Amino acid sequence: MKIKKKYLVIGNPIEHSLSPKLHNYWFNRNNIDAIYEKKKINESDIKEIIHEIRSGKIDGLNVTVPFKNSVIPFIDELSSDAEKSQSVNTILKEKNKILGHNTDIGGFELALRNKGYDIKNKKVFILGAGGVVPSIILALSKMGAFKIILSNRTRYKAEKLKNFFPNLEIVNWGEIPKFNMIINATSLGLNKDDEIKLDYKELGKNKLFYDLIYNPTQTKFLLKAKQAGNQIENGKMMFIYQAHQSFTIWHKIMPKIDEETIKLLD
Ligand code: ATR
Repeated sequence: MKIKKKYLVIGNPIEHSLSPKLHNYWFNRNNIDAIYEKKKINESDIKEIIHEIRSGKIDGLNVTVPFKNSVIPFIDELSSDAEKSQSVNTILKEKNKILGHNTDIGGFELALRNKGYDIKNKKVFILGAGGVVPSIILALSKMGAFKIILSNRTRYKAEKLKNFFPNLEIVNWGEIPKFNMIINATSLGLNKDDEIKLDYKELGKNKLFYDLIYNPTQTKFLLKAKQAGNQIENGKMMFIYQAHQSFTIWHKIMPKIDEETIKLLD
C-alpha cells in the first residue's frame, strides 16, 4: 500500500523549476510524509499523468509552461480563477473528481501587495502573450490597474488576448508606450545572455520593472533597469505565493513564508 504521498511538477523545460525544493522543504517543516519531484513531459503524456491522479498513484500536480492550458480537457472541474484565465497550475483529486486550480493569479497579487506597490491608477505595460499572461491581466484588473497595454513579438497572439480582455491596448513589438510598471512575461531572460532590446535610458527612471522569471534572479532586463534608476522585482515572491496557495489546497495547511524560506531559493 502506498503511504508516502507523491507530488509532481510537469513542464517542458523543467530543469529550472524550484518547486521541488520549496515543497519538499515545507513537507519537512510540517511533518508531511510526501515527496515532490519534477518531470519533463510532452503534450502526449498529459492524459496518462492525469490518469495517475485518478488512480491515486500521484496525489497532486503543478503544471508549468507550456501545459497550463492544454491540461484543461482532462480536468473535471475548474475553479473560477482557472476558468476565467483558462490556465491551470494546480491539480488534485477530490471526491473522485479531478480539480484544476489557478494559483498564479493569487500569487501575483500577493507578491505585488507584499512589495507594497499601489497599482491603482497605474499604467502597466506587459511584454509577452504566453500562458501566464491572462493570470497577470486578471490580477492587475482585480487590483485596480488604470490601464493595461500589451506587446508581443507575434502580434496575433496579443490580438487573441484582446478577445478575452477588450480593454487591453495592443502595441507593436518594439514600440514603447507611457507606463508606470513594465512586466516581462516572455521567456527571454531564462538564459542568462538573453536580452530584451529596450532603450533603458530613454525609458526614464522611478518605474517598476517586474520580471516573472525568478531563476536567474537578475535578468538583463532587471539589471539594466536598476542601473537606469528604477525599482525592480523578480518572480520569486510570486513563485513562493503561488506555491503557498497550491500547498494549502493540497494539504489544508498554510506553511510559513519566512526569511529561511525566501533564502532557500537564492
Ligand atoms: P506559451 O506561449 O507556450 O505559453 P510561454 O513561454 O508562456 O509559452 O510564452 C513565451 C512568450 O515569450 C511569448 O510571448 C513569446 O512570444 P511569441 O508569442 O512571439 O513566441 C515570447 N518570446 C519567446 N522568445 C522570444 C524572443 N526571442 N523575442 C521576443 N519574444 C519572445
